[in-house]
Amino acid sequence: MLNFEFENKTKVIFGRGTEQQVGALTSQYGKKVLLHYGGGSVKKYGLYDIVVNQLKELDLHIVELGDVKPNPRLTLVRQGIELCKEEKIDFILAVGGGSVIDSAKAIAVGVFHDGDVWDFYSKKAKPKKTLPVGVVLTLPAAGSETSSSSVITNEEGWFKRGLNDNLIRPVFCIMNPELTFTLPEYQTACGAADMLAHVMERYFSNTKHVDLTDRLCEATMKTILLQSPKLIDNPEDYDARAEIMWAGTLAHNNLLDTGRVGDWASHGIEHELSGIYDIAHGAGLSIIFPAWMKYVYKTNVEKFAQFASRVFNIDYNFENPEETALKGIEALENFFLQLKLPIRLADANIGSDRIAEMANKVTNNGKHTRGNIVKLSTADIEEILKLAL
Ligand code: NZQ
Ligand code: ZN
Repeated sequence: MLNFEFENKTKVIFGRGTEQQVGALTSQYGKKVLLHYGGGSVKKYGLYDIVVNQLKELDLHIVELGDVKPNPRLTLVRQGIELCKEEKIDFILAVGGGSVIDSAKAIAVGVFHDGDVWDFYSKKAKPKKTLPVGVVLTLPAAGSETSSSSVITNEEGWFKRGLNDNLIRPVFCIMNPELTFTLPEYQTACGAADMLAHVMERYFSNTKHVDLTDRLCEATMKTILLQSPKLIDNPEDYDARAEIMWAGTLAHNNLLDTGRVGDWASHGIEHELSGIYDIAHGAGLSIIFPAWMKYVYKTNVEKFAQFASRVFNIDYNFENPEETALKGIEALENFFLQLKLPIRLADANIGSDRIAEMANKVTNNGKHTRGNIVKLSTADIEEILKLAL
C-alpha cells in the first residue's frame, strides 16, 4: 500500500425528505444564491418549487441560471461567472446531475480568477479560492456531488477537460433516492456504467497489497451489478435506488483509491468521445472500458481473473487464468447489454473516421501517455478504439 492523504469535506444528507433541509443549509452560506439547474427536469418533476419556496421563506435573494446541457459547456460557465460578479453571489446551489454540479463548480472557481476559467482546465493555472457550492442530487452517476473534479466542454474545438482539486468539493450534498424515480431508463443505465467505471479505474491497478480497498471496490461493484437491473423493471424501487445512489458516491469520493494508483485511461479516451460526439458519458464508457480491458489484460492477467471470479462469480481456472480474465470481460459486456447500453462504437452510430483525431487528443498530440496499468501511446489508443468498432 502506498502513502496517501484522504480528505473529503462534503457533508452528505441522505434519505427520504432530505430536500426539505436545503433552505436551512443554504442560509448558512450567505444571502445571495445562484440557483443552477439543467434543461427542465427539475421544473417538470416539482423539485424546483420545493427548493425555491424554501429559499424565499428564508428571505434569500435568488439569481437563476438554468439550461445546463449534458456535457456542460464553457460558454454557460462564463455567463455564470459574470452573473455571480454582477450580483455579488455568496453561494451556488446546484440542483441536478453531474453536468449541473460540474458547471456550478467551474463558475465557483472562475469568480475569483483574473483570467479565463478555461486556464484551470487547460492546466495553465490552479484555483486558490472558490465560492461554496451545495448540491441537491437528482442523478447518481458522475459522483460529482462529493468529488474533487469538474469536467467542462469547450465548444471551440470540442475539448472536454477536467479540473481536479480538493478545493472544489461541494460543502453539502442532499441525496434523496426518491428524487431519482423519474430518471429515464437510459440515464439510470448510463449512471450505473459510470459508477462501475469509477470503481474499475481504481481497481485495475498494479499497486500490490491493497486487499482492503480491492474488497471495498468489489463490494461496490457487486452492489451496482445486483441493484441496477432491478431499476429497469421497477424505477420506483426505493431500496435499490438508495443502494445505487450511495454506491455512486462511494465509487468516486476517493476512499476506494486510498493507497493505490488507479488507471484512468478509459475515462481519458471516453472524454474525447463524448466531447466530439456529445453522447452520454456512461454510454461512452460501456463502449470504451471492455475494449481497453481486451487490450491491456495480458499485462496483469491475475488482476483481471480476480475481477472475473470475485465480482462476476466466474470459476477461477488456475491452469488458465487468461480464460477466466476473458470470461470476466464478456460478463461485463453482457451486463451492459442487459442495461441496453452500447458496447461498440457502431451501436452509437460512430464510425472509424475520427479515431486518429481522438487518439491524438487523448495524448495531446503524443506529448504524454495515458493510463497506468499500461502507459498508452497514441498508437495504442487508436488500437483500443479500433477494438471498440
Ligand atoms: O437537463 P435536465 O432536464 O435536468 O435532464 C437531465 C439530463 O438530460 C436528466 N436528469 C437528471 N436528473 C433527472 C433527469 N431526468 C429525469 N429525472 C431526474 N431526476 O439526465 C440527463 C443527464 O444529466 P447529466 O447531469 O448530464 O448526467 P450525469 O450525472 O451522468 O453527468 C454527466 C457529466 O458528468 C461528467 C461527465 O463527463 C458528463 O459531462 N463527469 C463528472 C465527474 C466529476 N465531476 O467527478 C466524473 C465523471 O467521470 C464524469 O466525467
Ligand atoms: Zn465517469
